[in-house]
Amino acid sequence: MAMSPEPATAARRTDLTQADPKVIVALDFADPTQAMALVDRLDPAACALKVGKEMFVVAGPDPVLRMIERGFRVFLDLKFHDIPNTVARACAAATRLGVWMLNVHAAGGRAMLVAARDSVTRTAAERSAPRPLLIAVTVLTSLGASDVAEIGFSETPESIALRLARLAADCGLDGVVCSAVEAPALRRTLGAGFKLVTPGIRPAGSAADDQSRIVTPEAAIASGVDYVVIGRPITQAADPVDALARINNSLGIAA
Ligand code: C5P
Repeated sequence: MAMSPEPATAARRTDLTQADPKVIVALDFADPTQAMALVDRLDPAACALKVGKEMFVVAGPDPVLRMIERGFRVFLDLKFHDIPNTVARACAAATRLGVWMLNVHAAGGRAMLVAARDSVTRTAAERSAPRPLLIAVTVLTSLGASDVAEIGFSETPESIALRLARLAADCGLDGVVCSAVEAPALRRTLGAGFKLVTPGIRPAGSAADDQSRIVTPEAAIASGVDYVVIGRPITQAADPVDALARINNSLGIAA
């Protein structure tokens, strides 16, 4: 008797779901139609999706809602940084969209971080929905030692990043965006449950683009990172589905 293809597909998807997708695809498109054309080809069990400022400014929440409807985890990467009340309200609005992860700047300070955390927790409870992961940006990787000195900080960017990561953890945030280089120290300091989310990832053999300190997905996960953010190596690949499958394979996740 001929086997139906469905059970094999279902089994494969179950494997991926159990593995908790490690890859977050950065959808850095201005045109939501182009983004959704790619999303239509991806499997929510194989990756999460990141929507940033450009597409959100162009298209608003509609593409985010469509991605969530299709079963994707969405990381809304808007990096809120404002007075506590404003950030709390923005976090509540993002939580009502049903996103899986959102972020704020740790440099907004303790009151802002606590307001953000409380707002996300309260809003999710009101919706009887899972609480989104709230993560912090510490020091933008575009800032070097002279930049941080110029804005008035006397410590090195690395030491400010560690200080801000500790503050975020102390305020009850779920994790930080960090480089794979910082991951082992953050993991040691902040413990097993603290989420480390890492961009600047390039599979072996792919173009560095404008990233400087690049790390492979395997090396990032081995250094203690929970989720890798990958854009162009997937979105600009001749076959994005295959590029993602290869990355998942390299992480030991069935594709
Ligand atoms: O295409 P690529 O893989 O370089 O995309 C990486 C994504 O991660 C982009 O959306 C970029 O804005 C984001 N990001 C980064 N470096 C940081 C923080 C965020 O590349 N330090």
